[in-house]
Amino acid sequence: MTVAVVGSGYVGTTLAACLADLGHRVTAVDIDESVVETINAGSVPAHEPGLDELVETHAGDRLRATTRSDAVADADVVFLAVGTPSAPDGSVDVAPIADATRAAADALADVDDRRLVVVKSTVPPPEIDRLRSILDDRAGDAVELATNPEFLREGTAVDDFLSPDKLVFGTESAWATETLASVYDRLRDGERVPIVDVDPETAMMVKYANNAVLAAKVSLANEIGNVCKEFGLDAYAVLAAVGLDDRVSERFLRSGVGWGGSCFPKDLSALIAAADAEGYDAPLLRAAVEVNDRQPERLLSLLEAHGDVADDRIAVLGLAFKPGTDDVRNSRAIPVIRGLRARGADVVAYDPVATEPMRELLPEVTYADSAAAALDRADGAVVVTGWDEFAALDDAFDRMDRPVVVDGRRVIERRDGIVYEGLTWPA
Ligand code: UGA
Repeated sequence: MTVAVVGSGYVGTTLAACLADLGHRVTAVDIDESVVETINAGSVPAHEPGLDELVETHAGDRLRATTRSDAVADADVVFLAVGTPSAPDGSVDVAPIADATRAAADALADVDDRRLVVVKSTVPPPEIDRLRSILDDRAGDAVELATNPEFLREGTAVDDFLSPDKLVFGTESAWATETLASVYDRLRDGERVPIVDVDPETAMMVKYANNAVLAAKVSLANEIGNVCKEFGLDAYAVLAAVGLDDRVSERFLRSGVGWGGSCFPKDLSALIAAADAEGYDAPLLRAAVEVNDRQPERLLSLLEAHGDVADDRIAVLGLAFKPGTDDVRNSRAIPVIRGLRARGADVVAYDPVATEPMRELLPEVTYADSAAAALDRADGAVVVTGWDEFAALDDAFDRMDRPVVVDGRRVIERRDGIVYEGLTWPA
């Protein structure tokens, strides 16, 4: 099939490269000239394991990129995968997706064979009708709207795309369902991957609900973890046992300093704001956010229980919002560092890959080249990202002036010579 993908962020680029790999002819459309040049040169604008190989293989052949939005006129299926930034009140700024829909509609104004415009971006269900109206008003009658949310995780996006748990189609006709099924046919592995076929608004609600359930699950693990800590118990032992109940599953029960990234915080705020606009105040969703907001402070209280940190040198180990990425958006390291600085501490931070993005956000912090250098002469350390390398620091702790270590991700082994505190497990 001939497919256009509008927006070349990590979702759009993963989608474009994977669809090319499935055998489709794909045009990636982005307003950023440098992103387009990067893709056409066979490189990737965003770091994602496995994506560079796919782009390198297919660029110039089944995958090409352009800044021309009229390129979508040639496509059987047009995916819209542009960003949906948050407005200051937490709601979604729908201007970019509305602009992309308008541009696609204009490019498809004169077509008379059936075309499908598929919203991949995460858009609150009540906003879908606005996009539908844009298409109805500007594109030809043969153009139809669908939604098709994605469930990719940063760091494993290519694998997640190629081996999904489910495909969710939000469609308004049997033709649209069949068209989307043809797009994904090669990865369906026979009937192994279920298709959930619902209307466009319901499909988008599946996306929000999916992230809300996962984020709330982690917040519940954190709340149980905080209670365990008060009782002197190990939340990891407790929740490992709970996770053996297959109604629960053991996944997304790792308690600690909380969730970050570009998805959970944004999608929960957007869902709360959209529900609020309808007059519902969503207490449990708000609580999931509140528990998450409190975890960094709990980490710092545990550190302070071992002494005042004012004028102390404190090492912050880990800046990325999770291991395997250099993304620092909504990383728990941000409130942790701000909290330390507000207490007068001298922060020395280290991350194997996320130093530069964090330096842009928090230039006043000292950044070390290694964990050992961050720990050198430190009066305390906090672990914020669960990088494997932190499990193997061994003698580096001997370099600390006061070896108090508060672990927010359960990666450090207890050892002689350090005072060790777990965030949701006993000292
Ligand atoms: C998340 C979802 O997992 C994807 O399915 C979804 O497509 C994506 O959002 C999105 O909406 O685009 P992602 O943000 O890449 O993916 O990262 P996750 O691996 O889900 O982790 C999110 C946060 O939760 C991280 O900060 C992680 O450290 C934290 N987490 C996760 C925990 O604290 N404990 C856990 O047990 C699991």
